[in-house]
Amino acid sequence: PSDSFLENIVSGASFPFGPEELEAEAKKKMSKEAFGFTRSGAGGEETLKNNVASFANYSIVPQYLKDVSQVDTSIELFGHKYQHPFLLAPVGMLKITHEDGEIAVAKAAAKHHVPFIQSTTSSYSIEDVTEASGTSPKWFQLYWSNNENISYSMVKRAEKAGYQAIVLTIDTFMFGWREEDMRNHFSPLREGYGTGNYLTDDVFLATLPNVDKESVVQGILENIYHPTLNWKHVAELRKWTDLPILLKGILHPEDARRAIESGADGIVVSNHGGRQLDGAVSSIDILPSITEVVDGKIPVLLDSGIRRGSDVVKALALGADAILLGRPFVYGLAIDGQKGVEKVIENFIQETKVSLALSGAIKVKDARDIYIVKR
Ligand code: FNR
Repeated sequence: PSDSFLENIVSGASFPFGPEELEAEAKKKMSKEAFGFTRSGAGGEETLKNNVASFANYSIVPQYLKDVSQVDTSIELFGHKYQHPFLLAPVGMLKITHEDGEIAVAKAAAKHHVPFIQSTTSSYSIEDVTEASGTSPKWFQLYWSNNENISYSMVKRAEKAGYQAIVLTIDTFMFGWREEDMRNHFSPLREGYGTGNYLTDDVFLATLPNVDKESVVQGILENIYHPTLNWKHVAELRKWTDLPILLKGILHPEDARRAIESGADGIVVSNHGGRQLDGAVSSIDILPSITEVVDGKIPVLLDSGIRRGSDVVKALALGADAILLGRPFVYGLAIDGQKGVEKVIENFIQETKVSLALSGAIKVKDARDIYIVKR
């Protein structure tokens, strides 16, 4: 890797460095409601806090004298080669953060060859994002709809636009108990920020008695509330598409086993960034039990609490195949739109490379052999 550390020093870069500074700068740029929605977690935020704290319980035992001049961070997932071991997590309603929302994020992701996972509840549509970012890799995150025809329609739109995978989120069939949003009387969905994919969906629009803002918003809210979500829906999705299907929100090893049994091609170990069940286990703490069950049969991705390159190394060492970056890129968007996201991604790439090299891993696969000590 080039010495990006020196580059940043010489250029006198003024962009915030590190997750705390990033969050603090973003806070200055965002409305109280938007920042609260983005930063906060469910309940007493125990899981939100543990997500970050848990990473500190694992320490890397580096190995030296290995010639790490040619660090290669590329990975392969579902027959596609990606240049870095991370993707951008699905984050909905990005217009609350910046006017350009998902468009800016998708363009920044494209610039760095990082796949962008677009949320069902995006401010902009699948087609808008595709137009803006062309053929750069994109995945689609699906919130299962109360009306299966709508889910089907969105999956088909993603297929048509050349998206490379479908990520079914299994932990958000209802919203977590989010007190910060209650305090701020804020629901971005209710405010109409998550309409991009709905207002461009004929099947959805046909379900509404009249297409005024209120009925759209009500339609979307009802659409996502789906507490009957179960394994039969996964089997149904499997019939609809040949694209790789990943289940996002897996925490229980038994669910990982069932995911494989149901024909899922991959899983994302995640507690939704502490926004759903407060008290849920940290992704990094449960990861080893999951990779034991999965035993290499399908890729295991992970998110929730990844803040630094060293966190990526720890996740890879404990058996993840790739990770998703969440809040940090949203803060980059708040600070400076597309450029801000680019800067966050760039720093994240460089810190990951440096962390791999200093751990003694030349390829991402080598990270599996890194010796980790748990405190
Ligand atoms: C999310 N996340 C999310 N997940 C998903 O599947 N669909 C979505 O629409 C959203 N929306 C969303 C909005 C905001 C503001 C945040 C912060 C998160 C969860 C996201 O994909 C990921 O799991 C977490 O962000 C990971 O946690 P960290 O690393 O951001 O703390």
